[in-house]
Order: sequence, then C-alpha cells, then structure tokens
Amino acid sequence: MGKFQDLQQHLRQHSYHWLVTGAAGFIGSNLVEALLKLNQRVTGLDNFATGHRHNLDQVRELVGEAAYANFTFLNADIRSPDDCARACESVDFVLHQAALGSVPRSIANPQLTNETNITGFLNMLVAARDARVKRFVYAASSSTYGDHPGLPKVEDRIGKPLSPYAVTKYVNELYAEVFGRTYGMESIGLRYFNVFGPRQDPHGAYAAVIPKWVAALIRNDELRINGDGETSRDFCYVANVVQANLLAALAAPEAANQVYNVALGDRTTLNALYRMMRAELAQRFAHVDSHVPQYVDFRAGDVRHSQADISKAAALLGYAPTHRIADSLEEAMNWYVSDFSRQQNAVVPD
Ligand SMILES: NC(=O)c1ccc[n+]([C@@H]2O[C@H](COP(=O)([O-])OP(=O)(O)OC[C@H]3O[C@@H](n4cnc5c(N)ncnc54)[C@H](O)[C@@H]3O)[C@@H](O)[C@H]2O)c1
Repeated sequence: MGKFQDLQQHLRQHSYHWLVTGAAGFIGSNLVEALLKLNQRVTGLDNFATGHRHNLDQVRELVGEAAYANFTFLNADIRSPDDCARACESVDFVLHQAALGSVPRSIANPQLTNETNITGFLNMLVAARDARVKRFVYAASSSTYGDHPGLPKVEDRIGKPLSPYAVTKYVNELYAEVFGRTYGMESIGLRYFNVFGPRQDPHGAYAAVIPKWVAALIRNDELRINGDGETSRDFCYVANVVQANLLAALAAPEAANQVYNVALGDRTTLNALYRMMRAELAQRFAHVDSHVPQYVDFRAGDVRHSQADISKAAALLGYAPTHRIADSLEEAMNWYVSDFSRQQNAVVPD
C-alpha cells in the first residue's frame, strides 16, 4: 500500500484538529473537503480577498451535513495577529494557504502582496509557535526558482526572484527556516508548481491560465497566449497537492524544516495545453472546434520553462502523484462545464 493510502487510513481512525488558512480559496477549499471526508476536525480562515463563500457551500454539498458539522469557519484576516492567534487555538496542524497569488498582481501592487504574504505569514508563524502546533505546512511557490536556468528544478538550486510575489514566497521560506532554528518549530514548505482543478477561479484580471482559458473557450471569447506558446509549465492537479499537504503534516521529524517541490515532474507547453483543452471542450461545445487563439507579447516576470524534480518529496514524504495531466484536465473540464451551466453564465452544451 502507498504511503498516502496508509495515511488516509490512519486519519480515518484518528481525528486531529487542522487549521486551513485561505479555506475559501481554490487549494484551501480542496484541503478542507479532503480533510472533512477523512473525519477530521477543521477550522478554516479566510477574509474573502480572492476566495468565495460559494466554494465553502460546494464543500458542504460534497461532504454532507454530518462531516460539515466538524468545520468551523472564521471570517478573519492573517494581517491581524489577533485573528491568527484565535485561529490557532488547540490546533494540531496548520496548512497555511492564505496569500495573494499572481505575479502580475504583485507587480501592480507590491505593498498589498507584501502585507498579506510576508506580514500575514509572519503573524501565522508566531501564532502557530505560541499555540505549539505540531507542524506548520505552508504554500511555497515554484516562483522561488526565479531566473535559475536549470531544468528540472531541484530544491537547493534557486536563482534571483523575478517578481515581488516571488520575493514574498522566498521570504516565507527564510522565516520558516529561522523559526525552526530559533524556536524549534517544525515547518514544511511545499513549492507548488502550476496547480489546477475544481474551484480555481476563472474570473478576474489575475485568473490562472487554465480557468481563464476554459471560460474563454466556453464563451467563445478571445483567448490570448503569451509569447510563442512554447513557454512550458509543470501543471499539477489539485488532488496531488492535497496529498502532499497531508503527507507533509504527518511526515517524520527528519522531513521537517525543509522545502519540497510539489508538481507532476512533467512539462507541458501552452500550445499543447491549449490543444488538449480545446479537444476536451469541443466534445461538448461545437463552436470550440473552430476556436483560434491570439498570440500576444511575452508577459513580464514569467519564466520560460518550468519543470520540477519531485524526487525529494517522493523520498522524504512518500509523495506519489496519482493524477496525470490528461485525465485530470478532463476532470477539471467536467467541473467547469457543470459550474458554468449552474451559474447560467455559459452557453448550453450542444
Ligand atoms: N494555484 C497555484 O498554481 C499556486 C502555485 C504556487 C503557489 N500557490 C500558493 O498556494 C496558496 C493558495 O493559492 P490558491 O491558488 O488556492 O489561491 P486562492 O486565491 O484561490 O486562495 C487564496 C485564499 O487566501 C485568502 N486570503 C488572501 N488574503 C488573505 C488575508 N489577508 N487573510 C485571510 N485570507 C486571505 C483568499 O481570500 C483566498 O481564499 C497561495 O499561498 C498561493 O500563493 C498557488
């Protein structure tokens, strides 16, 4: 049996108290859903900066009332030390996801990104330290590799950050390491690569590429590919990220106070991604077949290629991604199609 299956079995029999920050967001709500399905007690914190109440409503529908009764939601802000302290009370494990994502957002407003991603992160570290949580697992980012040309990306070889967002995520790692050294706190940083899946927000100027493209394809809107489309990313389904978080929380102490790549260990170009998505959606919407993308300039702060070496997470956490790109794209498309028709924002499938 795999390490994750063992862990799930353990969790079904032992209930812990988890704090998920950013619980109303994409990754946070998927963590809450997975934990409640495993009979865990969960506190969720969010200020709805980019998250949505409807994400939590959907979790409630998916897990059922009995499991949802184990969930407590705090409408709170990680920029407030008091909110963080309240959220950490009697918590065993923190899965810290709350942050302002998006490289372009950080370029447009570096101060806001700094307040949330650095001051908010430090507030959470202090609160988790004071509450003596067993472990603090946090969302780090592949943006920390910056301008390092090496491929695949290996944890200890990083370059210079290319955006304010990347600075904040790197500072998180430095703070977590220092809290380990100075206060004996156990943390694990998970450097997510490009995560996608249900509940990733397709709306707004800072939407990630997959949800943005799904919305454009379904609505037959203009779809822009930055650069020549040969930019590549290690797209990773959210179920794999959930797995990494749970494994990190309960991994042996030797695995703590380190960072790990969380991805598939694969690389897909934007052109290939577009073709896969178009083929998937053309089965449901006739107009998608003749859709043509528009090629625009490269985007500031973007790295050309990104691909993770996931062997460290495999060796020390027992991480073994279960969802490959093609199947998981299909799963994600299914979710978006039903979500779009539910909201009646979309054209009805042919
Ligand atoms: N999605 C990815 O591909 C990806 C890649 C690398 C790292 N990450 C990191 O993963 C984490 C989750 O990202 P996501 O994709 O789910 O984004 P998301 O925007 O869906 O979720 C972030 C959540 O944090 C909340 N939040 C923001 N500021 C807050 C504050 N001051 N107080 C309380 N809550 C606040 C938002 O309302 C939102 O619900 C972030 O830390 C992000 O930087 C994501």
